[in-house]
Amino acid sequence: MTFPTERPAIWLVTGTSRGLGLELVRQLLERGDSVAATTRSRERLLAGLGGRADTARLLPLTVDLREEAEVRQAVLETTERFGGLDRVVNNAGYGFLAAVEETSDREVRDMLDVQVAGVWNVLRAALPILREQRSGHVVNISSVLGLTAVPGWGLYCAGKFALEGLSEALAAEMADFGVKVTIVEPGYFRTAFLTPDALALPTGATTHYPAIREMTASHLKLSGGQLGDPVKGAAAIISQVVAGDGPLRQLLGSDAHSYATAKIEALRANLEATALTAPATDFPAA
Ligand SMILES: NC(=O)c1ccc[n+]([C@@H]2O[C@H](COP(=O)([O-])OP(=O)(O)OC[C@H]3O[C@@H](n4cnc5c(N)ncnc54)[C@H](OP(=O)(O)O)[C@@H]3O)[C@@H](O)[C@H]2O)c1
Repeated sequence: MTFPTERPAIWLVTGTSRGLGLELVRQLLERGDSVAATTRSRERLLAGLGGRADTARLLPLTVDLREEAEVRQAVLETTERFGGLDRVVNNAGYGFLAAVEETSDREVRDMLDVQVAGVWNVLRAALPILREQRSGHVVNISSVLGLTAVPGWGLYCAGKFALEGLSEALAAEMADFGVKVTIVEPGYFRTAFLTPDALALPTGATTHYPAIREMTASHLKLSGGQLGDPVKGAAAIISQVVAGDGPLRQLLGSDAHSYATAKIEALRANLEATALTAPATDFPAA
């Protein structure tokens, strides 16, 4: 059965037991789509959906995204259960707040394992299906901090900047195969992201960065008061995929839009400041 004429869309979404991922699953099921939802906690996902969701078209999958074999198996189970795969949302991620020099080797590798290698595991398993059927959509949930960096968020930004780079390359590679790519860049959204359960902190915090400790305290206090509404965020992501004609980058939130605008202005000033010096390193024209 082919999509969209003979069956509803089949989605794979990662990191679904709470926040934006959970809301995406809820809304996709409400639309009548089929959803394979990966999570580290099936129980938390099912509890999050409560009695309200029609679970007949839900395939909850316990997956450690860092394990390629587990991810491959999840994609296989998805195609076996629903008969295909159309749309992939790489959503799983977490924040980490520390100065660059306080961030340990383990903390760096853990973040990049989830936010970069984990995404790559999903892509290696899913892209052959989308490429061969010459249709599909990959949505990578980045952040406005994938475009611009601020003190204390160095490791998180490193992960999201990496995700942006791979996504831009992927979008260009997939264009000839009819597979679309969207990079979603939210600002602050009212999810579990800034709760002590989700926001990771360094094991080696020092006394040298009081401003970052204050920022950590203020972010934990901000939890529950963020500007972004995850219900509207999930709806905006779904409607851009369904419309199939949006720009590569989908900014979500007025805060995200302002931060991105400031980044572009700083980049433009930087380009102007180096306009004369950059060509000075070229070989002379032959
Ligand atoms: N909320 C914001 O302010 C904000 C802003 C910009 C970008 N984002 C991005 O939006 C995405 C969703 O975040 P959210 O706001 O919905 O936060 P959330 O409520 O904390 O949900 C994050 C999801 O990511 C998964 N996850 C967290 N840590 C993980 C780990 N170590 N390994 C594997 N999966 C992990 C969890 O999935 P399971 O527990 O189900 O496995 C969870 O459902 C993330 O990529 C985040 O970086 C959020």
